[in-house]
Amino acid sequence: MIPNPKPSESASPTESTTAEWTSPERVQKVLARIGIGSRRVCEDMIEAGRVTVNGETVQLGAKVGPEDDIAVDGRQYSTMPDAITYLLNKPAGTVTTAADTHGRPTVIDLVPSSPRVFPVGRLDMETEGLLLLTNDGGLAHRLTHPSFGVEKEYLAHVKGSPSRGALRSLREGIELEDGVTAPAQAALVSPGLVRITIHEGRNRQVRRMCDAIGHPVLRLVRSRIGPLVDSQLRPGKVRALIAEEVLQLQRAVSPSR
Ligand code: URA
Repeated sequence: MIPNPKPSESASPTESTTAEWTSPERVQKVLARIGIGSRRVCEDMIEAGRVTVNGETVQLGAKVGPEDDIAVDGRQYSTMPDAITYLLNKPAGTVTTAADTHGRPTVIDLVPSSPRVFPVGRLDMETEGLLLLTNDGGLAHRLTHPSFGVEKEYLAHVKGSPSRGALRSLREGIELEDGVTAPAQAALVSPGLVRITIHEGRNRQVRRMCDAIGHPVLRLVRSRIGPLVDSQLRPGKVRALIAEEVLQLQRAVSPSR
């Protein structure tokens, strides 16, 4: 199941628990388990008509199984019983694939081997910073599909220091060979250091955007994925998301956002 410590507790990859969910369970029990609130709070939500299962408002006492879609206030939550999502601070020099034909180190080498997880999107071999890995295919799809527009923030150390006009170009859209980039946020943090926030996921997008304004990237670090940041996580280190973070991610990709 989704690791479910209290939000204030830190979680390590080994702390996740697994629970079988083989027969239907009461809705409030499932909601409480994924961290929506205490059972009492979840019962109140059901009584207030805020909870739907497969689109139908449910009554207290209703039961659900792992195949059912549960939503609170129109927001859908993944209830996959043994879902786990890791946050990795990817070091430079690792590839974002499960197995590399050239024998290079992969991000999979840096996370626990069981249960098997896969990277959510990809970072270039030389890009550093935050990368999610999960076994929850639905969550991964929503986090990477452009229609959900999840923001990704990067710190780009570039050659030279972009002018205000160059930063404006980054914001307004850059003509790349695969089309104009969507509006982005771009700000100069210090000379030669640009904070860029995009919500597309094109191949080498930030590097190509910076190339196009004449300031090639020297070092690229992803500093945020949607609501997720972690300045304490050292390069090469990984941790399991706590329940509250999983909920934040699910809210970020919820259609009723
Ligand atoms: N943009 C890039 O250019 N590279 C990455 O790894 C991620 C975003």
